[in-house]
Formats: sequence, structure tokens, C-alpha cells
Amino acid sequence: MTIKEAIKARHSVRRYTDTPIEEDKLTLLRESIAEANEAAGLNIELVTEEPKAFAVGQILGFQYGRFRGVRNYLIMAGPKNDSAKEAIGYYGEKIVLLAQTLGLNSCWVGLSYKEVPGIFKKCLGKSCHCVIALGYGEEQGVQHKLRPSDKFIDADAHLHLPDWFLEGVNAAILAPTAMNQQRFAFKLTDGNQVEAIAKPSIFGYTHIDLGIVKCHFEIAAGPQNFRWK
Ligand SMILES: Cc1cc2nc3c(=O)[nH]c(=O)nc-3n(C[C@H](O)[C@H](O)[C@H](O)COP(=O)(O)O)c2cc1C
Repeated sequence: MTIKEAIKARHSVRRYTDTPIEEDKLTLLRESIAEANEAAGLNIELVTEEPKAFAVGQILGFQYGRFRGVRNYLIMAGPKNDSAKEAIGYYGEKIVLLAQTLGLNSCWVGLSYKEVPGIFKKCLGKSCHCVIALGYGEEQGVQHKLRPSDKFIDADAHLHLPDWFLEGVNAAILAPTAMNQQRFAFKLTDGNQVEAIAKPSIFGYTHIDLGIVKCHFEIAAGPQNFRWK
């Protein structure tokens, strides 16, 4: 599966089997994590075969969250500023799409997990912005409802938009966003400059969501065709 195919195939999966992730796939994931940490000064960490972070329901004595069988996850830690949050989204989604090409499933998780003492060490002095559940899903998830692409384009209706721009927007629409809010738009200026705009959102994941949708846009539009404003 190519990365572009992974964009279409990926859906949030919240129930996992107990099949462990193979060592060769873990190696590829760790390489991608190291690249992200190096490129953006992040502290992303992969945790494997650890069920406690998603055992909140049992701890509290009632079913909290809708996750089952999560034992592998990424701790998405980094500095506490907005550009770090956008990098968490951008690089986290690159890892998510890599996982999908490896036949794994995933789900970004802002709530519904517990920071297990001793495991979430990388968060000391940093922010643990969220986690990403990984593993072999019991199912492949379902496509979220798609809204028309013009809702995500900030442009005069008569402006001719190049194919690469429209392909970028269509890929961004497939991206995961917190609560499926999709509070973003793309604007084309000066022929090849693209601005990604985060619209006001009631949740605190605006910058992470923006990084995620920029990752999808860039892959589908082709980085050679434009530059970010
Ligand atoms: C930053 C972020 C935080 C999320 N937090 C949660 C969460 O706490 N619980 C959950 O069930 N889903 C969570 N999600 C998953 C979204 O609900 C999901 O991506 C969205 O509904 C779109 O569905 P899709 O991923 O299947 O396309 C989160 C997604 C993002 C991007």
C-alpha cells in the first residue's frame, strides 16, 4: 500500500486484537519517530505491550472511553507551544500513515487514556499533547462523513484552482481531526503559495489538527508544486 492509498484506507480504530506488532514493523516505526523528534525537537515515544494507559474504565469501575485492547501507543510529547503542537500533528500523522501502509490501524486520542507513572517519563517538563493508539484492529473502521470540498477552500468562486491544489484539499478532508471538527481551510495565493488556516474551535486541538491536515495536503498536492505561506 502506498502512502496515498493509506490516506484513503485509514479510519480511526478503537478496538484491537492481541496480535503483537512484529519486530521489523516496530523498527520502521521507531526510525520514523527518531526522524520526527530530530526534525522538530519533539519527544515522541513508542510504548509496546502496555495495557494500563487504556485501562481507565477498569480503574474507575465503569466504562470510560470506547477503546478496547490497546497495548501499543505513541506518546505525543513535546514543547508546550503552538508550533510544537502543529509539528505533533504533522509528524504524528506521517507515522499514522506509515503504520497504515504496514497493515496496522490507529486512532489519535486526546482523552480516554491515563498517564501511567514510570511510562510517561518523556512528559516530565514537556507537554504530553495526546497519544496515538496503534495495533491490529478488530475491524478497519469506517469513513467519516465527507463534506463538499468547497467548504474547505478560501477562494473566490470564479478562481481557477490547479488540480494539485484540489487533490491536496481532498486528501485533507480525509484526515482525522479531534471530534471530527474539521475546522480548517486552504487558501492559494501568488500561484504557488498555500496558506493553511485554522478556524476557531471549542477544543484545544486546533494546532494539532492543522498539522495533521497539512500532512495530508502536502502528500497529495506534491511538495514540489507549492510552498507553505
Ligand atoms: C487530536 C485528536 C484527538 C482525538 N481524540 C479522540 C479521543 O479522545 N477519543 C476518540 O474516541 N477519538 C479521538 N479522536 C479521533 C477522532 O474522533 C476521529 O479522527 C474523527 O472522528 C474522524 O474519524 P476518522 O479518524 O475515522 O476519519 C481524536 C482525533 C484527533 C485528531
